[in-house]
Parts: sequence; C-alpha cells; structure tokens
Amino acid sequence: MNGGPEGRAGSLPVGATTRRVCGVRLAGTGMAVPDNIVTNDQVAKLVNTSDEWIAQRTGIKQRHLIDDNTPLRELGRDALKTALENAHLAPSNLDQLICATLTPDMICPNTAARIVADLGAVPAGAMDINAACSGFVYGLNFASGLIQSGSYQTIGVIGAEALSRIVDWTDRRTCVLFGDGAGAVVLTLSDDPDQGCLYQTMSSDGNRWANLYCPKTERDLPANDAIFSGTYDTLQMNGREIYKFAVSTLQAAIEQVLDACDLKTSDLKMIIPHQSNLRILESVSKRLGLLPGQMYINIDRFANTSAASVGICLHELVTSQRIVRGDLILMVALGGGLTWATSLWRL
Ligand code: ACO
Repeated sequence: MNGGPEGRAGSLPVGATTRRVCGVRLAGTGMAVPDNIVTNDQVAKLVNTSDEWIAQRTGIKQRHLIDDNTPLRELGRDALKTALENAHLAPSNLDQLICATLTPDMICPNTAARIVADLGAVPAGAMDINAACSGFVYGLNFASGLIQSGSYQTIGVIGAEALSRIVDWTDRRTCVLFGDGAGAVVLTLSDDPDQGCLYQTMSSDGNRWANLYCPKTERDLPANDAIFSGTYDTLQMNGREIYKFAVSTLQAAIEQVLDACDLKTSDLKMIIPHQSNLRILESVSKRLGLLPGQMYINIDRFANTSAASVGICLHELVTSQRIVRGDLILMVALGGGLTWATSLWRL
C-alpha cells in the first residue's frame, strides 16, 4: 500500500477500497515550546552569520531552545496534557501513546513510557518512533489505522524534538536552522465514518541517507564522507541536496494525494507541511497554484522543529479556528532517512 512521489505502487484511497464502519476524531491538540527565545542576532554572536542571511535563505527569525536541565519528555508531556484537556479526556482514557522523536532523552526507556507514567496514564501502551521530520505524520497514520481497525479507542500522538542537542553550535550551515518544541494530538473513535484519515502514504528512500545523518562513530560514516564536519553525534547535512529533495518530493507527494482521491487543491482548506524552509514551502505553493495562506507557515517563529512541526501547526490552526469540523486538510512531511509521509483528513 506504499506510494512514492512518482506514483509508483500508489496507495489506494481508504474510502474507495474498504467499508469504513467507524471514523476517527481529532479530539484535541496541544503544543509546548521552551520559554527561551533565541533570535537570529543572538545566533550571529555564536557563528559567522547574520539575521539577513538566515531570514532571506530560510524565513527563520527566531527559535525556542531547551535548556540543559529540562528533559525533552517534559515538552512532550505538556503538549499531550493540553491536548487531553482540549479533548475533555483524562489521561486514564488513553489506550496508546506514540511519541515521534529523533532526539529522545535516552535510548531506553522510550520517551512515551515516561510520559504515560508522568501523566498517570499507566498502563497505556507506549512507543517511540523515529522517522525524523516525518515522524509526527507517520505516528498520526499509524494511530488512525489502529483506531479504524477497532483495536483501540483513544490514542495520543506526540512529535517532540530537541534538535539543539544534536547540532554543532560551531557549524553555521546547520545550527541556524533548528528549534525545539513539541506538538500533540489526541485521536478518538468517531461514529461518523466520513470523519478521519481518508488517505495516507508513508515512504522512504534509504539510498539517500547520507544527505542527513548523525554519526556516532567512524563506522557510521558514508563511503564518501565529503559532508562530515569532523564532529560525531552532530547532525551532518547536505543542504543543497535536501533542498532539491524537499521541493520535488513535497510537490509530488501532494499531487499523489490529489490524484488518488480525485481532488483539486481548491478542495483543501489547508495544507499543513513540515516547516523545513520558507523558500521550499513558497516554491511548492507557487508550483501548485495555492491561494495565499492555504499552506500554513510558522517557521519564522519556531524554525525547523523536526517531528514537532506539523503538530505545532495543527494546534495553532485548531485553536485559532482556521480549521474546523468538516474541513479537508492535508498534512505532509519529509526528512532524514530519507522519509516522507502524507495524511489527508476530514475533520
Ligand atoms: N550564514 C551565512 N552564510 C552561510 C550560512 C549561514 N548560516 N550557511 C551557509 N552559508 C554560506 C555557505 O558557506 C556558502 O558560502 P560559499 O559560497 O562562500 O561557500 C553560501 O552561504 C551558500 O551556501 P549554500 O549551502 O549554497 O546555501 P543555500 O542557499 O543552499 O542555503 C540552506 C543553505 C538554507 C541550508 C538550504 O540549502 C536549505 O534550506 N536546504 C534544506 C535544508 C533543510 O531543510 N534541512 C532541514 C532538515 S531536513 C528537513 O527538514 C526536510
């Protein structure tokens, strides 16, 4: 059922292939970001860059950065707590929790289990997933499928990330791009079969992994280590290749959903993309002929928060009532792996 951006083995619309007896409701959203706001001018005191360069090339004006003493799980916990409150549900209602992150506090235990315990939701199931910046959309797709299968009724999905902990703060090519934060959603069973995820894709191309990676030791380095900065445990990125991948894949992934579901861009109330770079998002908006504001953008305030970005956008849109019950929205993300994913929802 997997579909690539070229339409290879395209996924089939769920509504057209299976009889959907129940739907899924996006019951509540939440977000949490650290209090500490760092402007481009402040970053320019650490590396040889400028507010003008960062803003022009990326659209970023500031980012929220976590402090050394705060565990990442606290951001995820706070985002989920708000999502549960907005859903008018108690933590004990949770059946499962999926936490998407590539920057967990520890490899073991997973972040989700600690958050379940912190919120008093034991014995809800708990798992972390890592699909880099695509992680939240992957998590949403898995959670929606689990509810539609009839196995579970209430699932929390968190995207939580502290990329500031794995960037090299002496490398201006990467450190200016990222911010920390968490976005969360609580999904519940709906008796309206037309509500929920109508179509989804989750894809990868591991042949291109070395364009974005975080090596631990020498054995992790690609054969051609041209983009290795020399510092292990920090993010290594081929910015130009990622830029090309992002523009072409974002556009192709959106077009695949539209084709498969026989939709036009004007049918979509909002496209909610992973916030990678303003130029990437504006270029794709133009190529698709979107209306002004039809692709949501908040990278200026939060920078690239990896797996957290789509969840944060979703929360801002729901709480400002820019998206409401009945709207058709498309979430789309791409990132390290390389991975990409889409999720089309009727709210
Ligand atoms: N400040 C000032 N100058 C800089 C900086 C900086 N922060 N970073 C790089 N430069 C310099 C380079 O050294 C280079 O100088 P040179 O010509 O003297 O060698 C010059 O700027 C141009 O460098 P490029 O890499 O060609 O700059 P580009 O226009 O491609 O912008 C950027 C770089 C912003 C990283 C861009 O390639 C990009 O956004 N790529 C996508 C990366 C991305 O989104 N990564 C996020 C993770 S993956 C994801 O979220 C999908």
